[in-house]
Amino acid sequence: MNVLVTGGCGFIGSNLVKYLRKNRPAWKLVNLDKLTYAGNLENLKELEGDANHVFVRGDIGNRELVDHLIRTHKIDAIAHLAAESHVDRSILGPEAFITTNVLGTNVLLEAARHAKISRFLMVSTDEVYGSLGPTGLFTETTPLDPSSPYSSSKASSDLISLAYAHTFGLDVVVTRCSNNYGPYQFPEKLIPLMVANALNDKPLPVYGDGTNVRDWLHVEDHCAALTLALEKGKKGEVYNIGGNSERQNIQLVKAILAAVGKPESLIKYVTDRPGHDKRYAIDASKIKRELGWAPSFVFEQALQQTVEWYVKNRPWWERIVSGAYKNYFDTQYASRLGS
Ligand code: NAD
Ligand code: TYD
Repeated sequence: MNVLVTGGCGFIGSNLVKYLRKNRPAWKLVNLDKLTYAGNLENLKELEGDANHVFVRGDIGNRELVDHLIRTHKIDAIAHLAAESHVDRSILGPEAFITTNVLGTNVLLEAARHAKISRFLMVSTDEVYGSLGPTGLFTETTPLDPSSPYSSSKASSDLISLAYAHTFGLDVVVTRCSNNYGPYQFPEKLIPLMVANALNDKPLPVYGDGTNVRDWLHVEDHCAALTLALEKGKKGEVYNIGGNSERQNIQLVKAILAAVGKPESLIKYVTDRPGHDKRYAIDASKIKRELGWAPSFVFEQALQQTVEWYVKNRPWWERIVSGAYKNYFDTQYASRLGS
């Protein structure tokens, strides 16, 4: 099978590309990635010279390029992960989120429809459901109620994808997963940011009172679920993917500090994120029942391994936080920490 993977140089995309090369060695992967601040070819260094991985730098919004790739590589399926992915950035500037997540997705869907692509996997998020109170779980039939420009742009592309299945018969499958963790995550997201700050003895900015809850899914468990969804998902269906590991942010931050042997005095409670969703939690029984998937990582153990990866691979993230993107991180901290 020939698969066009979009966003294959980002956190989940690069993990997926490596997962597929290992577990589906006969598949040819064409990786279309714009290399925004979040995309990094270094994440795929081990695939240098691999004839079944073709990297193409480009924008999913470029219809001519997408048509060309589908035609020349005889693409059978699209795994669509490219997106602007960070909630805080969507609050600072929503435009790129609309351009890539909504309009870019629509370009891919149109190209897929005209080329009669046999499977379009839309990687969405649990954030499309909005926020939960202290109890309950998101199921696939929970009404969409997104809060941030990020989650509303994802909800739009998620629904447009489903509309292509209903209206045009395109073979779309949508997945909605919870917060991923693991190696190669851009250090603007909670876990790598907290590890980086702790190792640099910088304050750890916890939004609000730290009691917001996220469900944590190891990126490799996510990749296994995406592979099954690509292969066996039913046309027009949505599958929730969750890690069954709900934690309060503050619990997680304290666990990270303990893992790197740094004091809790580094924790700094800062002004809350505007519109901050309180709790996400996933009912993943449908994908378990219908596709036979279950998470295999145990959170405490896998968090420890993930922290160790960031400790060992310090140059990978140090180049980001102290190099090319230092200005972004400095400005963010200054405004959050009120200095
Ligand atoms: P990421 O920000 O790490 O990577 C996104 C990748 O997309 C980057 O490589 C970037 O260069 C590329 N990209 C951005 N705009 C592009 C464009 N216009 N054309 C081509 N490439 C472009 O994101 P991630 O965390 O790996 O997330 C991947 C997908 O999974 C996204 O669709 C995201 O919404 C979804 N998701 C992520 C999480 C999570 O916890 N990280 C949770 C749920 C859903
Ligand atoms: P994040 O990794 O940005 O993912 P998302 O907002 O998509 O869930 O944030 C995870 C949680 O951590 C969220 O509740 C916001 C919180 N958070 C902080 O408390 N401090 C931070 O510096 C960041 C980046 C996030």
